[in-house]
Amino acid sequence: MKALYPGSFDPITNGHLDVLQRARKVFDQLTVAVVENPRKAPLFSAEERRRLVEESLKEVGIEDVPVITYSGLLIECAKRLGVVAIVRGLRATSDFDYEFQMALMNRDLDSDIETVFFMTAGEYSFLSSSIVKEVKRYGGDVSKFVPRCVERALEEKFKQK
Ligand code: PNS
Repeated sequence: MKALYPGSFDPITNGHLDVLQRARKVFDQLTVAVVENPRKAPLFSAEERRRLVEESLKEVGIEDVPVITYSGLLIECAKRLGVVAIVRGLRATSDFDYEFQMALMNRDLDSDIETVFFMTAGEYSFLSSSIVKEVKRYGGDVSKFVPRCVERALEEKFKQK
């Protein structure tokens, strides 16, 4: 069974990797899809985000998960790839409303594709790309929460700014 794990990944965190590793145990084939134009203006370009996901996967020894970028409707990307499911992570109840809305809309657009949720590990339940960026922007230590390549990329990005 094939599944798609979509997101903004601006940038990928250990919380995303935790969800990905859980999903990988359940699905035979998993593809990560980095959305090119997320709702919020991203810090990293789509290509930078895609590369960071790829490098992060290498850091944790995962070599069989392709990483693509997409623009437009997620469901169209899912159909094109022939997946049976869209994978999303849930951290806390605060994620529920948005995820519920998205899952039901995607089901309305294509009732053959299910959205499947994986709970993150408790240690990442408060973690988000936004909070990591905020802490790093002001010089805080995020090494516990992101892969090394992401930490370096954040340092570079904030040096340039
Ligand atoms: O990591 P995020 O930002 O929570 O991921 C949200 C994402 C990118 C999966 C979602 O915004 C999305 O699929 N965007 C593409 C456009 C689309 O299909 N929107 C309607 C979904 S109901």
